[in-house]
Order: sequence, then structure tokens, then C-alpha cells
Amino acid sequence: MNFAIVGCGFIAKKHANAIRNIEGANLIAVCDRVPELMEPYVNEYGATPYIELEEMLRDHKIKVVCICTPSGTHAAIAELAAQYGKHIIVEKPIAMTLEEAERIISSSEDNDIKLAVVHPNRFRPVVLKLNEIMEKNLLGTISHALCIVNWNRGQDYYDQSPWRGTKEHDGGVLMNQAIHNLDLLLSFMGTPTEVFSMEATRFHEIEAEDFSTGIIRFESGAFATVQASTNVYPKNYEESITLFGEKGTVKIGGPNALYFETLNVRDLEDSVIESYINEVKADPWGTSGHEQIIRDMMEAIKEDRQPVVSGKEGKRALELVLAFYQSAEKNTPITLKNTPITLM
Ligand SMILES: NC(=O)c1ccc[n+]([C@@H]2O[C@H](COP(=O)([O-])OP(=O)(O)OC[C@H]3O[C@@H](n4cnc5c(N)ncnc54)[C@H](O)[C@@H]3O)[C@@H](O)[C@H]2O)c1
Repeated sequence: MNFAIVGCGFIAKKHANAIRNIEGANLIAVCDRVPELMEPYVNEYGATPYIELEEMLRDHKIKVVCICTPSGTHAAIAELAAQYGKHIIVEKPIAMTLEEAERIISSSEDNDIKLAVVHPNRFRPVVLKLNEIMEKNLLGTISHALCIVNWNRGQDYYDQSPWRGTKEHDGGVLMNQAIHNLDLLLSFMGTPTEVFSMEATRFHEIEAEDFSTGIIRFESGAFATVQASTNVYPKNYEESITLFGEKGTVKIGGPNALYFETLNVRDLEDSVIESYINEVKADPWGTSGHEQIIRDMMEAIKEDRQPVVSGKEGKRALELVLAFYQSAEKNTPITLKNTPITLM
């Protein structure tokens, strides 16, 4: 299956590497406005470089396009790729506004192509194990949850490119960094109905927020408290989700939400709990999430089904982030429109 990448910056390397690792997948074309950035892909992968996106999209051999450009450009590129009949893997966030996300989803439906959003944390070993626990309802009714991303990003990170930290093309810590953890939170907790949040830009010279905190009310009656920041000295401190259920308490955490930090489950034997913890510890990253997203897309095309992290899944994480932004701006609770979701 032939792939192309649009946008040859930081994250494109992960896509290219993942494509190389998959038998039957080939990177045959790349597109960027900066010709030098395409050179490694021409030299190492034999990909054809394109400055003009439409010229690349006219190549009938390309089946899937990976969109790795700044977040504010995803919608226009995805719509065009869909019109050319290409399946789409779009980096997170799916887009910067709900209208853009809806346009991407409807153009993928109109043109009968598959659409996946890159939320690779869904495939982490600790998350897959927690899904198993949730599917068996071993935690019982969830009372509340805690969702934390306390990371470090220096001013140099934001100064790398003009789009970083802008409201139009990137957003702040919620839209860029914490959206992965919020996506996981939603997959465990279900439909959010109301959000109340506060935010600030404390340590960085950027337009968007570098600190956000808030509360989410879920349709189930449960709550979640969220704290996200890129202001932590001197390095990433914690990315975690804690679920407090009537029959169990689980925390997946560490600096990158990779381990079980707490696993107290009433109806699981101690030996099983220990085996879960050790299994995850032995291989915390598992197969790269990007590789799993790309493999899933290939299977989705062959089996004519939706990818695991579909456009609609990407949209509901976006919807939550936008509700946080709206609530902070208006200093009032926001009721969500409730995009229907699939629970893990
Ligand atoms: N899933 C993850 O873990 C993860 C991690 C990092 C970034 N991302 C996402 O990936 C996207 C890109 O981030 P990045 O860090 O690689 O950015 P980057 O600035 O390093 O790279 C973006 C590239 O896109 C190119 N570009 C911009 N507009 C273009 C256009 N219209 N046509 C063709 N090329 C264009 C730029 O020249 C640049 O080379 C963002 O949406 C970001 O949120 C996801």
C-alpha cells in the first residue's frame, strides 16, 4: 500500500519510520514547502518530492496520505486529499475548530475514504490492559477521575516555528499536549456533558495557555478533574489518569502515562494484578503507536471498516478542549453538544 506524507517536520519522521517497519507499506511521495526538508525522504526512502500538494495528489499510485503539517492547516489539506480519493491519517488535533473537523469528516464520507486521527496513546500496553479491566467492568461504577499532564516545554520549543503556541494554528497545552490524555479519559469515562475551567499563560511568551485546570461532568454522573501545564521545572513530571471506582482504584502514570502506579481491584487476585503490572513494565512503549495507527488504517481499508481512532473520535477530543477554552474565556460552565462516542 503506497503512502505519502504532507509536512516533513518533526512528527513526519515517526510516520516514515512506522511505514518502513510495516511489510507491504511504502512511502512513495512527500510534500513540503521547504525543499531541503524533503531530502532525507528522497535519499533514504526513494520518495518523490513535491512542493505543490495537488500535483502530488494527482499520483494515482498514492493510496494513503499522512497529514503532518501545523494543526491549523489540517482541514484544508484533508479536504483536498479526500477529494482526490486518498485515505487520510491526520495528526492530532484533527483540526482547530469544530466546523473544520466536521468538514473533514463529511468530505471523507462523501468521497468514501477512511479517516484516522493520530492518538497513538490508545495502543500503549498499559492502556490496552486498562481497557480489558474496564470491559470486564472490574472497577464498577466510577465515582470520579483525575487527569494530569504536568510537563516541561521551554520557550525554545515554542520559538522553533511561528505557528507554535498560536491560537489559530496550535493552541496551548490542552490542544497540543494534553489532548492525548483527554482522549484516553473520554474513552474510559464516556460522554462529557459539562465543563468548567480556568486557564493562564504564566511562563511562556505565547498567545495560547500554558496552564489549564477544570472539572468535567459526565453523562454517567461521574466527574473528572483536569490539570495541564507546560510550566514544570526542569522536565516532564507527570502524565496520568486515575480512575476511582466502587470496586477498584487504578492510576496509570509516570512522566508519560506508561505504567500502573496503582492497581487495586477487588475482584482480581494479587498474582494477576502483579502479572499485569510486570507485563506492562517489561515493555512499556510496546509497538510504536504511530505504527499501530498505520497498520490499523491498512486493515480498515482491507476490511472496509472505520479505523479505531476515527474522525469522530478525534472530533470529540477536540470538542472537549474547545469547551475548556470557551469556559475559561467566559468564566462560566459550558454544556457540551455531545458527539456520540464509543466507550472502550
Ligand atoms: N501525535 C503526536 O504525538 C504528535 C507529536 C508532535 C506533533 N504532532 C502534530 O503534528 C503536526 C505537525 O507537528 P510538527 O511538530 O511535526 O511540526 P513541524 O513544524 O516540525 O513540521 C510541520 C511541517 O509542515 C510543513 N508545512 C506547513 N504548511 C504546509 C503546507 N501547507 N503544505 C506542505 N507542508 C507544509 C512545514 O514546512 C514543516 O516542515 C501538528 O498538528 C502537531 O500537533 C503530533
